[in-house]
Amino acid sequence: MSEKIPLLIDTDPGVDDALALLMAFHSEAHEVVGLTIAAGNVGLDHTVRNALKLREVVARPDVPVFPGCDGPLVHVQREDAAHVHGRDGFGDIGYPDPAGAAADEHAALAILRLSHEHAGRLLLVALGPLTNLALALRLDPTLPQRVARLVVMGGAVTAHGNITPVAEFNVGFDPEAAHVVLSGFPKYDLADWEATLAHGLHHRQAEEWLAADSPRARFYEAISRQTRLWSEDRRGELWHSADALAMAWALEPEGALELAERPLAVETEGRLARGLTAVDWNRQTGAADNARILLRYDQARFEARVQAALAAA
Ligand code: BDR
Ligand code: CA
Repeated sequence: MSEKIPLLIDTDPGVDDALALLMAFHSEAHEVVGLTIAAGNVGLDHTVRNALKLREVVARPDVPVFPGCDGPLVHVQREDAAHVHGRDGFGDIGYPDPAGAAADEHAALAILRLSHEHAGRLLLVALGPLTNLALALRLDPTLPQRVARLVVMGGAVTAHGNITPVAEFNVGFDPEAAHVVLSGFPKYDLADWEATLAHGLHHRQAEEWLAADSPRARFYEAISRQTRLWSEDRRGELWHSADALAMAWALEPEGALELAERPLAVETEGRLARGLTAVDWNRQTGAADNARILLRYDQARFEARVQAALAAA
């Protein structure tokens, strides 16, 4: 058995998902055992195609890509994040079709199978709406017993949302799925949108990293150009990469400088608060601390990982 930590990534690529995937593939301590794909940033056809392309860019055609759910569990979602990531989710650069095809197995079934194959060791990282994971959990509620660690990018722990005033995109896109997963796993690590905002990357610095003489940097420079321009125009000098921060924490837990463990529940109803991640900061409910929330991560370690992943040959 490989000494490396088996890493399964559920994702909806997505420009920031792509950076997180580059970081994951670059880690010597981890073995990416599969990419399970959700709809989210854009539709499933695009997110699957983008995952296949990314796998090609890192020359890992052996890593299976499992298409999952093409929309939320319950409601019809009309809003995606194409205005941030491009209509195709990868900056509309018109990249050539990727070689190879997606696997036949559904993402939810692949999550369960791989959880058995890597029982007790699996690092599961969720970078998109939690639809596939929720389905897997409904099919087999014992899933958490086999997952060594679940890291989720999602939520806004003091309700400073990005898709609504209170909800973050991944949770707001499919609140029922988020409820299933974040109440079904007794413990998980949460890198929320507010942590993302606290760990911005300077645009000028990022441009230097993106100028590296490597196919990865060239590809990433191209697919991220539109979203970087949008970000600088809207948010100023810092560029925020939510999934990359979550992945840094997943790959290098020692980089976390401040964490908080609290009970967390997802609001699935309400006129204003649907998709809210309600954190019981004062422990008033008596519920168990299920969420380990990232408050501060070592910025230098984060940036070093991003830089190294882009520069890698
Ligand atoms: C999350 O939403 C998506 O747009 C990003 O890929 C990230 O996973 C941030 O709220
Ligand atoms: Ca994502």
